[in-house]
This record gives sequence, C-alpha cells and structure tokens, in this order.
Amino acid sequence: MAHTIVIFGASGDLTSRKLIPALYELFRRKRLPENTRIVGASRSPLSDVNWRDQLADTTSKFLKETFDLETWKQFSQAMFYQPLDIEQPADFGKLSAKLAELEGGLPADRVYYVATMPQLYPTAVAHLGEAGLANDQLGARRIVIEKPFGTDLATARELNQSIHRAFREDQVFRIDHYLGKETVQNIMVLRFGNSIFEPLWNRNYIDHVQITVAEEVLVGRRAAYYDNSGILRDMFQNHIFQLMMVVAMEAPVKYNADCVRDEKVKVLRAVRPLHGSDFANCGVRGQYEGYAKEEGVRPNSPTETFAALKLSIDNWRWNGVPFYLRSGKGMSCRTTQIVIDFKQPPHLVFSGGRESTPEANRLVIQIQPAEGIQVHFQSKVPDQGMKLCTSLLDFSFNKASNGQAGPDAYQRLLQDALQGDASLFARSDEVEMAWRIIDPIIAAWRSPAAPDLYTYPLSMWGPEFSTQWLDDQSRSWFDVCPVIS
Ligand SMILES: NC(=O)c1ccc[n+]([C@@H]2O[C@H](COP(=O)([O-])OP(=O)(O)OC[C@H]3O[C@@H](n4cnc5c(N)ncnc54)[C@H](OP(=O)(O)O)[C@@H]3O)[C@@H](O)[C@H]2O)c1
Repeated sequence: MAHTIVIFGASGDLTSRKLIPALYELFRRKRLPENTRIVGASRSPLSDVNWRDQLADTTSKFLKETFDLETWKQFSQAMFYQPLDIEQPADFGKLSAKLAELEGGLPADRVYYVATMPQLYPTAVAHLGEAGLANDQLGARRIVIEKPFGTDLATARELNQSIHRAFREDQVFRIDHYLGKETVQNIMVLRFGNSIFEPLWNRNYIDHVQITVAEEVLVGRRAAYYDNSGILRDMFQNHIFQLMMVVAMEAPVKYNADCVRDEKVKVLRAVRPLHGSDFANCGVRGQYEGYAKEEGVRPNSPTETFAALKLSIDNWRWNGVPFYLRSGKGMSCRTTQIVIDFKQPPHLVFSGGRESTPEANRLVIQIQPAEGIQVHFQSKVPDQGMKLCTSLLDFSFNKASNGQAGPDAYQRLLQDALQGDASLFARSDEVEMAWRIIDPIIAAWRSPAAPDLYTYPLSMWGPEFSTQWLDDQSRSWFDVCPVIS
C-alpha cells in the first residue's frame, strides 16, 4: 500500500526542525515505507521546488553529518507543496484533488499531521471531515495532533469532540514526543521484561519517586505564550504525567495501544484529588529572577517558571509512596530524570556509626540529554573496616549502541503513525484525566489563597524553599546534573 503524509504547517518551525529531518532520516535508514509521498500545506505561496529547497537548507543544518545531498535528492522527489489556508473550506477540496492526483486514484494510507497553531486544530479537523478526507474506504486515514492538546479540561474536551465529529478515536494520534524516546520505552522493558525489578517496584520497597524535568533555557521568544501557559500546562500535564504513568502503571496484558493506555489511564484515575488546604501544601511555586522583565511577560505576572508537586497514587501498589514532580526553567542544567528512591534496609547490621549506615538504594533513569540508567548501591570502602560508600552501575544507551545515537523521538512516532500503532500516543481519556488533575491546581495557584511564589536565581535547582519543603518531609532532591553522559 502507498502512503501519503500531509503536513499542515509546512512552512513552520516544527516541520523544518523535526518532521522533515525525521522523515529524511527514516528514508536514509530505509525505514520509510516504499512509495511514501509527503505533501506540505500552509498559506505561504511556495512551489514544490521552493519548499524542497528551503527544507534542504534547514535539514542539512539540523542533521549535519548524516545529511547527504544525493540521498536528499532521492527523498525530496516525493515532496510536494499545496498552498492552503486552514480557514478556507474550499482549499481542502483543492487538497483532496491534489492528493487524488498524486495517488493516481489508487488506495493509499494517509497520515494528516497537524503542526500548526493550536487555535487552528478544530478548524483543520472540521474541514478535513467536511471535505471527506477522513473517510477511510480507500486506505487508512489517521490524524496526528501536536501538543498542546487544549489549555484546560474544557478546551481539551471541546477539541476531542471536534475531532470525534470527523475521525474515530482509533484514527487519532495525540503526540507527546517524550513517549518516542528510547529510554521511556525502555522503562517498560526494564519493568516488564525483567523479573528482578518488578518485585521491588511497590510500596514495600520504594520510599518515594522523583521526576525532574530541568531546563537551563529561559522563556526566550516564547515569553508571551509561556506567560499564559506556565509550567504546569507546559510540562506537567503532558510530559511529566506521561513519565509518571509509565513508572506507576500495572503490566499491560499485551503490548498494544489499548492495553498499554488502559493501564496508564488507571494511574491518573488513582491520583488522589486535592482539596482545600492541600493546594497550599502540595507543592512549591517559583519564578526565575528577571522573568518579569522578559519581553511579552505581563507586569507582576504570577506565572510559575518552576513548580514542584507532591502527588499520591491511591492504589495497592503505591499507597503511601509520594511522587515528587518538578520542572523549571533557568535551572542548573538540562536534564530529565526519574529517581526511584528505595527504603533503607530494615535493620542496621554494621556497627561503625554513621559511616557504616547504608544510604538507601536508588535507581536513576535518565531520559535526556543522554539516555541511560544508573543503580546506586552500597559497597565497602577497601581496608577501612566496615565503612560503606555508594557505588554506581551505569547503563548508557549511547555506549551500548557503540556511540550510535538512538533515533530522534519524532522518527519513532512518525513510523508508528504510518503503521497505525498508537501505543506511544495519548488517548482522549488520558488527556482529559491529566487536565482534571492539573486544572484545580492552576485555579488554586491563581486564587488569593495561592502559596507564595518564590523568586530563584538562575543556574540553581529552583527556589531554596523547594529544598526546605522536601527536607521537612525527611527527603531530599537528587540534585545531580546528568549522571550519564
Ligand atoms: N517548534 C517546535 O519545536 C514544537 C515542539 C513541540 C510542539 N510544537 C507544536 O507544533 C505546532 C506548530 O509549531 P511551530 O513552532 O512549527 O509553529 P510556527 O513556526 O508558527 O508554524 C505555524 C505554521 O502554521 C501555518 N499556518 C498558520 N496559519 C495558517 C492557516 N490559516 N492555514 C494554514 N497554515 C497556517 C504557518 O504557515 P503560513 O504562515 O505559511 O500559513 C506555519 O507553517 C504548535 O502547536 C506547537 O505547539 C512545536
């Protein structure tokens, strides 16, 4: 079967930085199905050749050494451009005619990738439906929707309803590029492909879980957007919750889209709702020094650029095990890591005082910049009686694959969308449940009863109060810049 990928937002940043480089790489690595064509659509008046040339420049810039002009020429033969205004229904008729012409009227599977401004998603979907482009009698018709998926529960629901008026749920692929990362998938393999970790993966052995997404960058040119969005919408509702679900889910009966997503959504259902004074104590709000002076930010903006949250998952596995989630901009380094902090051994055997008291075991799963896993365990300092120290066992994806960097998340996700595998995409109920948890926190943090907003200096791990907040719970953040390189 032939394949057609239609990209709405063809002249945009995501297309040039991620989508076309990912499709080119799939082609170069012979992973793109034969007879795949790519049709770009946006308002800019470009010809096929203009579009190909623009993207040749950007793709070579982003891919550097893997870009090869001869391979690009072969790849770009199958790239076509159709001027289209999403707000003009008649343009979808023209698109339909162009697709039929390119496909020669033969059956073809199509993926529509909506990579344009979020406010245009419902219109794009509606016009696709009205033009008959969602009808899958002549091949599969799938739609990929970029983040953000709504700005709260109400808008996410509206968007789901608009989508479902044109497409069935099994045709919809809501992207969260974190799920395309090798290490995130590897968490499932670590948990469900080994017998040594899973018996420990519960309230009997784990004290708490930390998930940190730290960025060094500031809001930059996204300031105006960010000031309305804030870190809870930008990072927690999607990426951090996805990581939490993968860590906390039960084993799926099978590794397929429905079974995996059934288990993930159960985690969100089990998150204990917050009430009343919980909102003041469930987390820490922070804003980096100088944020208010960024161009596009409102004076006295209450928007958080840092947040830490403590959530509880009320089920048999996790009862009493807090999940500490935090993310910030202007932090001391760029790292995304999940830290599983195990309980102290139940009885101290060695009698050498503090030096013989073991530190609790820890498993660090690093998602970026490098992907890997590190186990912290106790060993004996040689020739010093029973003095203990923490030793490390490292697994680095990069080293395990002889320095071959794993594929970019978009390669994996585009390939899955082409094959119709939605396991690594969010389902409608999952997205709505995530907003159901985040919305009340945002509302409480915008109310007069909001906890204090702490300013923090750049290149630190957020406000000092965040450290104290966790100290007060007899725990401490794992503030270590990438552990795996
Ligand atoms: N950039 C990233 O790294 C990134 C990462 C994650 C998610 N995303 C998401 O991906 C989406 C696209 O982001 P982006 O950064 O690529 O945005 P962008 O650079 O602003 O691109 C927007 C695209 O939409 C097109 N467009 C605007 N109005 C249109 C209309 N009425 N009809 C047809 N096309 C129209 C623009 O082209 P014309 O002006 O030529 O029409 C342009 O191609 C956003 O939802 C964003 O949140 C982006």
